[in-house]
Amino acid sequence: MKTIGVLTSGGDAPGMNAAVRAVVRTALENDMRVLGVMNGYDGLMNGEVIEMNLRSVSNIIQRGGTILHSARSEEFKTQRGQEKAAEMCRRLGIEGLVVIGGDGSFKGAQALSKYGVNCVGVPGTIDNDIACTDYTIGYDTAMNTVMEMVDRVRDTTESHSRCSVIEVMGRSAGYIALYAGIAVGATTILVPEFEYDFELDVIDKMRKTISTGKRHFVVIVAEGCGNATEMAKLIQEKTGVESRATILGHVQRGGSPTVRDRVLASRMGNYAARFLRDESNKSCVVAVREDEIVSFPIDEALAMTKTLDLDTYRMAHEISI
Ligand code: ADP
Ligand code: F6P
Repeated sequence: MKTIGVLTSGGDAPGMNAAVRAVVRTALENDMRVLGVMNGYDGLMNGEVIEMNLRSVSNIIQRGGTILHSARSEEFKTQRGQEKAAEMCRRLGIEGLVVIGGDGSFKGAQALSKYGVNCVGVPGTIDNDIACTDYTIGYDTAMNTVMEMVDRVRDTTESHSRCSVIEVMGRSAGYIALYAGIAVGATTILVPEFEYDFELDVIDKMRKTISTGKRHFVVIVAEGCGNATEMAKLIQEKTGVESRATILGHVQRGGSPTVRDRVLASRMGNYAARFLRDESNKSCVVAVREDEIVSFPIDEALAMTKTLDLDTYRMAHEISI
């Protein structure tokens, strides 16, 4: 009987549990044995595994976080660490590994596959910054969380006729900022992908809307695109509008996954386990393209690039006047 492993790695994301559940159930239903690897690549190097059965994944589809826990491992980035992980896979009989995580985790999977362990990457990150796929697991939930939080901030922002500068996650990706920003009707959205002119895009825009009677403002800033506290200070100085900064932080990474994320995770997890059942299949990354679940060879997937849609960004600014 073939044995596969499943781990979660890097920044966690709502829906990772739903993906683990789908991998485990699919594998067991298709005559494979499944080992759950705790603590990402760290746990893999140290052989921290648990035998999974049908009931190991009961009652987790609705839970945020990951029952397998996640970790970042510097040791695994080294050749020695990767050899250690591959050796552990041989000892445990792991012939294929499902890696649920982001870009960094997939680079790890790519490295491990060079040591003979077949890996399948399942995109799980709130940032939506995996190039080969339209959507990643956790992105929809995070955007809905941001929308709810900003709606709340807006209530008090309006009562006090203030400007709220709200920092959302996305160190180098502006997907959450742009799309949640559109959903909350932000006056200005700043993302790392597109250059902005603070004077023109924030201050002048606010002055223009003030002249049309607007009295409260929401500015959405992607993390890695400027400091929200500094920006709030500057806005107050230059426009005279009292301003506050709110940093949403890790609240965006938690919570029960949305319908979209649960379904996406279930479909991707199912695909990943089925993929590993076939001996002739080599390491890949699973993706959703136009609502179809597909996969790309891992080297090809990691060579791809994607960026935010400039027209959508322009549209967001046009309708927020
Ligand atoms: P994410 O998967 O969310 O992008 P990280 O970038 O932190 O998160 O990566 C998760 C883990 O994947 C790292 O701690 C490391 O162990 C492994 N990893 C990241 N980049 C590489 C790399 N270039 N080579 C090998 N392993 C890597
Ligand atoms: O999960 C993705 C992400 O949230 C990024 O947007 C952010 O920069 C990073 O992870 C922060 O993660 P941590 O606080 O775990 O280092």
